[in-house]
Amino acid sequence: MSTSSNGRIATNPSTSIDWEKLGFKERDVNGLVRVTYKNGQWGALEVSKDSHLNVHAAAPCLNYGQQAFEGIKAFRTASGSVRVFRPQENWARMNLSARMASMPELPEELFLQAIKVAVALNLEYVPPYKKNASGGALYIRPLLLATGPMLMLGSPDEFTFLVWVTPVGSLYGSGADIPAVDGFVLDTFDRTAPMGTGHTKLGGNYAPVFAPTAAAKKQGYPITLHLDSASHTYVDEFSTSNALAVQKDGEQVTLVVPDSTSILRSVTKISVVDIADKLCGWKVDLRQVAFDELKQNKFVEFMAAGTAAGITPVRSMSYNSHKPQLVHDKLSRDGPKYTFPSDNEVKRIDFGDGQTAGECARRLFDELTSYQCGDQPDKFGWLWPE
Ligand code: COI
Repeated sequence: MSTSSNGRIATNPSTSIDWEKLGFKERDVNGLVRVTYKNGQWGALEVSKDSHLNVHAAAPCLNYGQQAFEGIKAFRTASGSVRVFRPQENWARMNLSARMASMPELPEELFLQAIKVAVALNLEYVPPYKKNASGGALYIRPLLLATGPMLMLGSPDEFTFLVWVTPVGSLYGSGADIPAVDGFVLDTFDRTAPMGTGHTKLGGNYAPVFAPTAAAKKQGYPITLHLDSASHTYVDEFSTSNALAVQKDGEQVTLVVPDSTSILRSVTKISVVDIADKLCGWKVDLRQVAFDELKQNKFVEFMAAGTAAGITPVRSMSYNSHKPQLVHDKLSRDGPKYTFPSDNEVKRIDFGDGQTAGECARRLFDELTSYQCGDQPDKFGWLWPE
């Protein structure tokens, strides 16, 4: 452990990890932090070296999906100190999810304290300063779980809040440059109902996406896009992150932000909206975005924005040009069958040169990471602790 120039405690990154080849996966670390809610109140923080939980088989988090999660990143600055990016926003969003799933809210102080202790316990797992051009951070995963036994539909008496962490690189690709990925529109599957839970981070919004996402990945599309469930007309979000588009009119750049009641309030998105507006001098247009606008080549760039995804340029979007059919024999015990469209049914929309990251995505990526790593004075007050 050493003290950096600004007096913060800095533990050097572990030498047992190849920081250039992090990928996005879980690794063993020193431990996690846990708090129990019982008798109507939150208890004290506990540190556990064991990543396993001892949960009753009748817990609603296991049976009915009564749980919520968050994704936050901590970064190492040039001086070696470690800072967390905007955890207050994740606290607010976790409480939104908690309200949606009838779970107790967390006081902000407790949420932040749990993050501080979890990060301090695992400082050597925060990647070196800007080691990996396509990401490199300690991924922080707060989890809120209904852990008391309860067979009836309803909230049990006991809940668990925990924070586990793991070092991660980019969600999409690796290497020296920012990855530009190919996307596919999932139009035979709806992520959430029109007036459902899409704006919250409940696990139930994610598990049903695994199969169609895996099918798309197998066909060469690492990122999948959902359209609005009611009309399949407007852009909602990617399975992993929010979507953003760029429109250009001469010198005027507009960052187009899809508006929908079924998408998450991505902390990365609201941050790059500030960057676009206050630093780049671009227009920001929050509105419904018809998928037809992508087909009509109205956008020069398209990108994903999320904690795990960071800013990921999307170089192409492919879609099924035929009306998609979900084969659903209601009397069959197998349920609907998802079949990927054949090559002659798939159409592709290219953004820019259809190969590399566009200049606006690069600019947003560079500005965002420079704030996250503390390269700039923190004029937005994004890094925590201050
Ligand atoms: C995040 O961006 O933090 C997420 O939770 C997305 C998930 C697909 C990894």
